[in-house]
Amino acid sequence: MSHKDFLDIVSLDKEEIIHLLDQAVPFKELFTRSVKKVPALKGKTVLMLFYEPSTRTLSSFEVAAKRLSADVTIFDVPSSSVTKGESVRDTIDTLQAMRADYIVVRHRLAGQAAAIARQTGASVINAGDGAHAHPTQALLDAFTLREVFPKMEGRRVLIAGDILHSRVARSTSTMFDKLGVEVAFCGPGSLVPKTKFPRFTDFDEAMKWGPDVVYLLRVQKERQDAAFYPSDREYHSVYGITDERLKRLSDAGVYIMHPGPINRGVELCDAVLDYERCLISQQVENGIAARMAVLFALKPQIKNS
Ligand code: CP
Repeated sequence: MSHKDFLDIVSLDKEEIIHLLDQAVPFKELFTRSVKKVPALKGKTVLMLFYEPSTRTLSSFEVAAKRLSADVTIFDVPSSSVTKGESVRDTIDTLQAMRADYIVVRHRLAGQAAAIARQTGASVINAGDGAHAHPTQALLDAFTLREVFPKMEGRRVLIAGDILHSRVARSTSTMFDKLGVEVAFCGPGSLVPKTKFPRFTDFDEAMKWGPDVVYLLRVQKERQDAAFYPSDREYHSVYGITDERLKRLSDAGVYIMHPGPINRGVELCDAVLDYERCLISQQVENGIAARMAVLFALKPQIKNS
């Protein structure tokens, strides 16, 4: 792979995706060793620049970079001069003087990671930009699906919830589509745009489509400027994994995925977390290996003179 940046899934071809998935396998094997580090990025610097909150992605990139022996700096946006009005462009100019080799960025605006990538020779990794893309989430999702179904082609994944505001839905559906996995969307009509994928607004109808995996999404109230459904209780009873639906999924052998963070009592009931085919923890663990593969594959264009 000869990419400087990792900004979206659309820009990758199937061979490049498979290469990254294959590369993540030995990195994951490392996790069971007493020494979990390799020297691949020794002497390199990874800068984390998160303008939006994160638990999984931020900590996962930090662990991934450290397991590759890179030096990691977490730029603390809330206590920085960003609060005094410093622009992203000026912040990057300032940080460039520190000669970071990799910048991992999350921002509420779609396209911000790409704009930073044009500005800097550092490799820029998009850790989520608005409702546009979250490509490393898509990579870890594909890695997780492949662990369960080594031959992914023809498997069916129903992505359920707030598709409209979800960068995960965009990136993960594109990823699965490129790998030959069949995708359908399900949720309230107000939250499921018309795309090339089958679209369901009735959960029971969607289950007749025969998914191997139900991939749940959180309803992103922070990105909504209107009420898209009457109440959380209503949403849970119509679209959530209730105890009764979980029993049906269990009987049908269906797996459950979720990118996190979860909203208990909205898109899922507590029992989902104890369900034997719930892959949420596996997704989190695989996020480290997938992000190691991305950091390892990229080619920064930093001038060292
Ligand atoms: N899945 C995901 O992006 O989670 P965080 O917002 O916690 O990083």
